[in-house]
Amino acid sequence: MTIPMLDLKREYQSIKSDIDGALAAVLDRAFYVLGENVEAFEREFAAYIGTRFAVGVGSGMAALHLALRALEIGPGHEVITVANTAAATAMAIVATGAQPVFCDIDDHFHTLDPERLSQKITPRTRAIVPVHLFGQPADMAPIGAIARDNDLFIIEDACQSHGAHYRGKKTGSLGDLGCFSFYPSKNLGCYGDGGMVTTNDAALADRLRMLRNYGQRGRYEHLIMGHNSRLDELQAAVLRVKLKHLDAWNQKRRQWAAIYHELLRGLPLQLPVEQQDATHVYHLYVIRVADRAGLGRFLASNGVITNIHYPLPLYRQPAFADRLTAPLQLPVTEQCTAEVISLPLFPWITEAEIKRVAGLVKQWLQRGGK
Ligand SMILES: Cc1ncc(COP(=O)(O)O)c(C=O)c1O
Repeated sequence: MTIPMLDLKREYQSIKSDIDGALAAVLDRAFYVLGENVEAFEREFAAYIGTRFAVGVGSGMAALHLALRALEIGPGHEVITVANTAAATAMAIVATGAQPVFCDIDDHFHTLDPERLSQKITPRTRAIVPVHLFGQPADMAPIGAIARDNDLFIIEDACQSHGAHYRGKKTGSLGDLGCFSFYPSKNLGCYGDGGMVTTNDAALADRLRMLRNYGQRGRYEHLIMGHNSRLDELQAAVLRVKLKHLDAWNQKRRQWAAIYHELLRGLPLQLPVEQQDATHVYHLYVIRVADRAGLGRFLASNGVITNIHYPLPLYRQPAFADRLTAPLQLPVTEQCTAEVISLPLFPWITEAEIKRVAGLVKQWLQRGGK
């Protein structure tokens, strides 16, 4: 029996007739780019997140890149973020010409450590990009206070946290702009690439609509330099069906996480720790263990697929080598990236599968990690 990290066939089977109907309707209409599904989904997603506007774009990385561009961030500016994230977070900053500045993280929550944020601010800093990693909101109250005191923008990387709450508000509504990915594996994913930027600011939403569409306001009226980065009608149709299930699916993820917690508590592992007054939506169930390679090999030899999010701080990736102004070593990020391992968790996993994974982890630890 193989237990995958994620099985999207199970998802499709559970909503097949609605998805097939939605896709067939788009094909019948034969209108594929910036049509009624994108418009409707933008409205529905904005209402779900609790912002006035949402602008559909081509991917999560595009959402971050265009959000930064909407704020006119570019060469000569610095943007503070974390190094234990998808490369896209920092690559979007580099794509604007700005300098990514990596800040260390909190040892329990694995998100940007507000205590270390102020020391990263310089006269060139324009924005902070906190990442709501693994489905857990970053500690936005102190981050927001520091941003206000220093006149900095906040762009949330909510690519892993669709539906997560922080102090009663959803991630994506806590900063100036919220950026989402609809990559298929996300809590809300489409069947290809897609993304969204959320905001309460009408002028920013207007600029984002131009940026995603060659800088146009009306047809062939190019006011600014733009991109081709639009959410398409087929993906929007899929996402409209799936948005209706998101809360129930997130609830399932939390239930499965609670079972893992229960079964793995008291073992020499670091389990996920939840922020107070926040709802973690368990995009990933990430534990920390000293010999994560050994555990990964043992689980693989027993048919359990795991993954590492992320194996290296971004500043150690070759792509960023010539972007660093000085050698960097962030101690908590280093330790965390050396120890993390993600266990299978998705809404359609079964209790028997969770129990088998947890049982194998226990067995490996009882044998002294062999
Ligand atoms: C935290 C984070 N930021 C950004 C991205 C980029 O999203 P996409 O793959 O849609 O470009 C992802 C997903 O890969 C992500 O997990």
